[in-house]
Amino acid sequence: MKIDILTLFPESFSYLNSSILKRAQENNIIEINLIDIRNFSKDKHKKCDDYPFGGGAGMLMSVQPIYDALKSVQKENSKIIFPSPSGEKFNANIAKNLSTYDHLIFICGHYEGIDQRVIDIFNPQEISIGDYVLTGGELASMVIIDSLSRFVTGVISKESLEEESFSSGKLEYPQYTRPAQFMGLKVPDVLLSGNHEEIAKWREKKSIEKTKNIRPDLFNN
Ligand SMILES: C[S@@+](CC[C@H](N)C(=O)[O-])C[C@H]1O[C@@H](n2cnc3c(N)ncnc32)[C@H](O)[C@@H]1O
Repeated sequence: MKIDILTLFPESFSYLNSSILKRAQENNIIEINLIDIRNFSKDKHKKCDDYPFGGGAGMLMSVQPIYDALKSVQKENSKIIFPSPSGEKFNANIAKNLSTYDHLIFICGHYEGIDQRVIDIFNPQEISIGDYVLTGGELASMVIIDSLSRFVTGVISKESLEEESFSSGKLEYPQYTRPAQFMGLKVPDVLLSGNHEEIAKWREKKSIEKTKNIRPDLFNN
């Protein structure tokens, strides 16, 4: 999978070069390219934003640099994503669906956002990562990319995905590692028993209890 990220702040993306995503790139499973929108500005000072027509606070990213940056990477099979508070709420199903594309392009808005004509021309999928406002789309893009990458074959093991929270509409059961006792807190005996059937039953029970307590809405969905 190839992912192109259009941004005014390419330096924000160092997280993508660590841990699991670093390994996925080294193994040529995912290729991530950062495209500096400023390099496409036709303004003599490389300006990429301007005051919104009609007034209002802050600056808006201009259409021309984003249009040219997008055109430089867009292919017939590209899927364009615009992280935005106005988008549909992100979840594991959307991440899974995005993981099936060969080429994703992310547009990172900043300041007050982007000129509406970018959306009108390219019709990107708008995705919100929650009902709050970030200063830019960089973090939101990283959240979406990190999450969808886990569904790309070879990035993590199949087993890791299977019992993960949301994979079966529930939250994951509590997990423990060594030591078996810490500050008087003991790991449940069943997990030390070696009895796989009992362990599976315990995990299923805990998973249901936890979901009922914390996210009962998941059962309604
Ligand atoms: C300050 S925000 C603009 C907010 C916009 N004026 C509004 O009220 O909807 C700048 C950029 O951050 C990104 N962003 C902010 N909050 C987001 C969220 N909850 N989910 C996804 N992207 C977000 C978008 O790319 C947005 O264009």
